[in-house]
Amino acid sequence: MIKIEHLTKTYAGSEIKAVDGVSFSVNPGEIVGFVGPNGAGKSTTIKCITGILPFEEGRITICDKDIGIQPVDAKRNMAYVADENILYNGLTGKQYISLIADIFGVEKKIRDERTDKYSNLFDMSDKLGDKISSYSHGMKQKISIIAGLIHEPKVWILDEPMTGLDPKASFELKKLMKEHAEKGNSVLFSSHVLEVVEKLCHKVVIINKGKIITECTAEELQEKSGEMGLEEFFLKITGVFSGENI
Ligand SMILES: Nc1ncnc2c1ncn2[C@@H]1O[C@H](COP(=O)(O)OP(=O)(O)OP(=O)(O)O)[C@@H](O)[C@H]1O
Ligand SMILES: [Mg+2]
Repeated sequence: MIKIEHLTKTYAGSEIKAVDGVSFSVNPGEIVGFVGPNGAGKSTTIKCITGILPFEEGRITICDKDIGIQPVDAKRNMAYVADENILYNGLTGKQYISLIADIFGVEKKIRDERTDKYSNLFDMSDKLGDKISSYSHGMKQKISIIAGLIHEPKVWILDEPMTGLDPKASFELKKLMKEHAEKGNSVLFSSHVLEVVEKLCHKVVIINKGKIITECTAEELQEKSGEMGLEEFFLKITGVFSGENI
């Protein structure tokens, strides 16, 4: 459902490739975790996948639609929750969700049902009428997630979605991700919480300095890390053995 082939991205004015020849895919029914140290290239890759950033090399398709050639069709199949909340502070939560629903052409009855469902799950029902400027960081994150999922597309792409969420909201989001994948859809998310990635994901893609250093199933990850434990394994492959395949 998501296919990334030889993606290379260099920011203007930089001599370093932020993403360097990255290839991986997220198949139907899969949750894929994207991990790597700060500055590894996760958000850059994700922004290329979602069509926010142009890139100089490679090909990205979402449900067989090329993000460069058919960006509107590709985006119709995709939800994106960014790592930073870029919301309109002057709108209420409900108005913002409605704005996004308008963009994706979600009809009123369906958007109301989904808004009710998600705002109940994330304990935001009684806050929807308040201005976004009055929201806490976590509340803004919840509105980003609700608005991001309002058109319920096949592919979900979430950049550090659990950051800032309280335990209940985090639990509910993980449950939604699992249910979404179980219906045959695809979820790609980045995270620094290795335990969550290990528990939730079918596949884990580890990136460092713009290059994929390993791609494996959760079981393989456990085997590879062995007695070392996940954290030490991660430090080892992204530090001492940086850039090498293991
Ligand atoms: N707007 C930008 N302009 C120039 N360079 C950038 C820009 N955004 C990111 N970079 C560079 O691209 C590289 C990859 O950054 P990216 O944000 O993709 O990392 P990340 O893996 O998402 O990190 P984090 O875990 O901190 O979110 C870094 O070297 C970073 O300095
Ligand atoms: Mg990032």
